[in-house]
Amino acid sequence: MMSNKLTSNREPQGEGKTSRWSVLLHRLDTVVSTQEEAKRLAESGASEGTAVMAEEQTGGRGRMGRKWHSPPGKGIWMSVVLRPELPLAATPQLTLLAGVAVCTAIRRVTGVEAGIKWPNDLLAGGRKICGILVESSLREGGLHYAIAGIGISANLAVEDYPEELRGVATSLQIESGEPVDRIELAEAVLAELEAWYSVYLREGFAPVREAWESLSVTLGRRIIFGTPENRGEGQAVGLDENGALLLQNERGEIISVLSGEIEII
Ligand code: BTN
Repeated sequence: MMSNKLTSNREPQGEGKTSRWSVLLHRLDTVVSTQEEAKRLAESGASEGTAVMAEEQTGGRGRMGRKWHSPPGKGIWMSVVLRPELPLAATPQLTLLAGVAVCTAIRRVTGVEAGIKWPNDLLAGGRKICGILVESSLREGGLHYAIAGIGISANLAVEDYPEELRGVATSLQIESGEPVDRIELAEAVLAELEAWYSVYLREGFAPVREAWESLSVTLGRRIIFGTPENRGEGQAVGLDENGALLLQNERGEIISVLSGEIEII
């Protein structure tokens, strides 16, 4: 059944539900950004897995200071508190982990063949369907907590997008031809996130990297990259152990890109 509002609190049991996180799911109506709400909770000691979902964000944000279009009742606008003990250099891995979890949940619940564009976009039919923003808070040189922000364009119609996004963004409803049950999908995302996070804490980044590579729409493609230090072009050949994208240039050299933007050509 389709529900227009995020109306049910999550019971951590059964298939598609999380099992270990004793999650408090905060469901809010309108917020500026769920990132801010989750941060506030994390600062006051909220446990790992605490999640905030909102019907609408008035100041939803993306990477690189961009805005995230978050109209009411149409998407999954959610932020989750994570508290891994990680060196700072490893935090980009959390973005890739979240991408694997969300992509798996979308495929399982909707059948839409979403794929991951490095580092944090999920695409369907070549257009963006989901963005992931992991923000870290540091303490004594290490990670204090991270907030994994997940924006899934679930039930937006073409006319719900501003003109400038129509060519580059899509939604699950547009791709599958039917509305998505946002509660079911949000449950699945949290269950996959917990499952992949447990694997990551137990076994390290290698299994996440393998899953990421199999869901990727980036590998094997020619890429233009831009980082604050560097610009260039190459073929995407894999991820390194930190989650950097490895590109091979025309001279056969391997370039590692840890942050920034890429364009698939
Ligand atoms: C991106 O693609 O640049 C990342 C977009 C992340 C959007 C989500 S929606 C929930 C959370 N709250 C925000 O303000 N941003 C993230």
